[in-house]
Amino acid sequence: MKQTNDRVDRYLRTVHKLGTPCYIYDGDIIKRQYSRLKEALPRCEILYSLRANPHPDVVYLLRNVGAGADVFSEGELERALRAGILAHNISFAGPGKTEDELRMAIGTEVAAIAVESIQELELLNALARQMGTQAHITLRIGTGKFGIDEEQLPEFLSQYQKCTNVIFDGLHFSTHAVPLDAQDLLAKFNHNLEFAQRIQREAGRPFKIINLGGGFCIPMFPGEKALDLTVFKDFAPHKMFPQTRFFIEAGRYLTGPAGVYIAKVLYTKKSRDTEYIIIDGGMHQNAFACGLYAKTAPRNFDIRILNKINAKPERTYSIAGPLCTSFDTLARDIQLPEVVPGDLICVLNSGAYGFSMSPLDFGSRQRPREILLSKS
Ligand SMILES: Cc1ncc(COP(=O)(O)O)c(C=O)c1O
Repeated sequence: MKQTNDRVDRYLRTVHKLGTPCYIYDGDIIKRQYSRLKEALPRCEILYSLRANPHPDVVYLLRNVGAGADVFSEGELERALRAGILAHNISFAGPGKTEDELRMAIGTEVAAIAVESIQELELLNALARQMGTQAHITLRIGTGKFGIDEEQLPEFLSQYQKCTNVIFDGLHFSTHAVPLDAQDLLAKFNHNLEFAQRIQREAGRPFKIINLGGGFCIPMFPGEKALDLTVFKDFAPHKMFPQTRFFIEAGRYLTGPAGVYIAKVLYTKKSRDTEYIIIDGGMHQNAFACGLYAKTAPRNFDIRILNKINAKPERTYSIAGPLCTSFDTLARDIQLPEVVPGDLICVLNSGAYGFSMSPLDFGSRQRPREILLSKS
């Protein structure tokens, strides 16, 4: 409880300085999340998926604790390198890499360029030849637009034989966003390792890299439990592949729980049976919390009144922002203490895909400030 109150005090002081709306990221929570993952999977190198939250201070902090980077664009690669992440610890994936992006990935000598189609393999080979070098690749196994289907492997391998400027270093699996079930994730990892063993035999030499992908979720809604990472205690991929580097990718697990989005209450009003809270932020700044990417009906994020943290919920509200669309609804029928103008709405679990996945220019409003706090 004391820790919570300390944190709330720090957030209140920060909001006082920054104004609203704003995002506050707690560096101590990011470090804790990184340590949890690293302790659970000590044989794996953790690559931070920058799209979750590419704020330079966040990337720099993660680099300082030891993370590499999983990047999907020139912009993410630049941010990772600027934060001091070594190219040797970067994997560059994405089904639509441009020629410029491929040249940049070859030129900076990232650890792995994840090839996602046969055409991309051919282009990469041609670019590496023009640049007088060899490109180190992993093959991304996936479905749909991500990677290539398992069945297309023979075609890839036969095409690869003709590519003298590409070195096939291993596989990259598209595991991500499974429900909160670590057993399920472990089973996928084990299945993929067995698959990799078979392909390694066909490739005829030990893989340098196996990227197991991600899938490390966090509890977002009432009733959801945190991933039980103890299930990985006997996970020993190095026993099967003694000469291989293992990558895992994590975005939301590292930064999601570390971020809050804070907006100020401008007005309250009643329409028919619904009491509305109108705030100075909304969907343009936190589309994720508004449920824009929800596969089913949107659910309310965990929302508190920052300046009334210990008050009991006693009223039912809907929370909406200032935009000209009803998508701009942050919560529906949520229980909160009584709210008045000036109160501070605080949306938890907003450290991943909050700022980075929002249509920030919609409505031509000012962008929310972002700040990383860290005690240590
Ligand atoms: C290939 C890949 N790996 C990892 C991630 C990160 O996912 P999460 O934030 O769920 O860890 C993403 C997210 O877009 C991704 O595309």
